[in-house]
Amino acid sequence: MLNKESKDYPRRKVWIKTFGCQMNYHDTERVLSHLQKLNFLPTDDKNDADLFLFNTCAIRALANMKFYSQLGELKGLKKQKNSNIVIGVLGCISQIEGHELLKKYKHLDFALGTDMVDQIPEVLYRIYSGENKIVLDAFDKTSDYSIETKITHQSPQAFINIMKGCNNFCTYCIVPYTRGREKSRLINEVVADIQRLVENNGIEEVTLLGQNVNSFGKENHETFPELLARVNQIDGLKLIRYTTSHPKDLSDELINAHGNLSKLALHLHLPVQSGSNSVLERMNRKYTRESYLELLAKLRTAQKGIVISSDIIVGFPGETDQEYEDTIDLLKQARFDFIFSFKFSKRPGTQAYLMEDYPDDSVKSKRLKKLQDLQLNIQNEIRQEIVGKTMQLLVDGVGKIEGKKKWKGRSSCNRIVHFDGPEKSESLLYKWVLVKITSSTALSSQGEFISIC
Ligand code: 5AD
Ligand code: SF4
Repeated sequence: MLNKESKDYPRRKVWIKTFGCQMNYHDTERVLSHLQKLNFLPTDDKNDADLFLFNTCAIRALANMKFYSQLGELKGLKKQKNSNIVIGVLGCISQIEGHELLKKYKHLDFALGTDMVDQIPEVLYRIYSGENKIVLDAFDKTSDYSIETKITHQSPQAFINIMKGCNNFCTYCIVPYTRGREKSRLINEVVADIQRLVENNGIEEVTLLGQNVNSFGKENHETFPELLARVNQIDGLKLIRYTTSHPKDLSDELINAHGNLSKLALHLHLPVQSGSNSVLERMNRKYTRESYLELLAKLRTAQKGIVISSDIIVGFPGETDQEYEDTIDLLKQARFDFIFSFKFSKRPGTQAYLMEDYPDDSVKSKRLKKLQDLQLNIQNEIRQEIVGKTMQLLVDGVGKIEGKKKWKGRSSCNRIVHFDGPEKSESLLYKWVLVKITSSTALSSQGEFISIC
């Protein structure tokens, strides 16, 4: 009989495909850490895999479509292998459509919702004991949220889930339905967790994760700036990032923290979504373009050189030419360092689903293209200003520039820089280095190695 939690399992291989946000990538790492204990090795080769997992994203129709087509492709493989393979779905689509998925796709064995990630050993135990068609999609109803971060990678960077869920119900967004209500971990637990990772796993950089980290701790009478101040004191930790923020909850305390906390990255991702007050109202965002721009000014005063990025949606239901032009104008004023931009995608179950979906797709595409072209120009201008400057980077791999291998690192302000190493070919992987920026495009910069820090 299999032991649910041990290595009585024969050696097997798992192929996992992750869609969507950092939260999903973080969950994937959690799943892989559980699977390691059950004697699974990861593989990229579908022909070699015993277990197939999809960690799904429901935020836009495109991510859904990619998942459905890849799931469909596995039907033939399962037939060939005489049903010896197991296929499971995790994440946001699984949360809202788990039962339908299992009914529709006969080759699918199980679906786990977003709060059920840690049930993977239990589910596999049941599957390998002969059960089939399992759906676990309940939300965790307990009032506290307590976990220990699990990591399986070698790099000194770790994602730390500090809260889950979202209470905001932006009218276009499916997340409150797929991830449930907000729940935060306690500050003491998060700090102890990071301390352990610094001491035992050599972690030097953390990214604190939540759908809206600015409302962290509300139910425990704790605040996000308090958490940042405590994390900033952890010996051995060098850099703190966090994502994602909601402008309506970005407090003066947090802005001050950007001025005062030495380890806080010189970067903030602050999704604005639209530059039109009427669209922001229809989106239920609860701030105005004026208050948003004021936040940027305050942040830029508090933390000199802070780099700001954002998310934009074009073609929200009813977006007029003027409303769109307001977003174009906001982009010119805000001068974001980079943006993620999307065409509005109608999600069943959201309030915007019920709104009349116009402009039509061709207009949305044109608007998106014009916005992205403008942003690239702005970005290019901003990046020329950093040429000649010295930056500290954490080297996280190698990239190819014009066919040549170069080291690749990320700065505190979240810019990617490629550079040649020193003459002697020592490995710079996961080291902090100083480089001088020699040239830049809108998307990446080139540097000259100065020294290891
Ligand atoms: N359509 C288009 N973009 C969306 N986003 C969220 N929901 C939708 C949707 N229905 C975008 C927002 C959010 C980012 C993660 O995805 O810009 O900030
Ligand atoms: Fe979605 Fe809005 Fe919550 Fe962000 S804050 S996850 S956009 S509902």
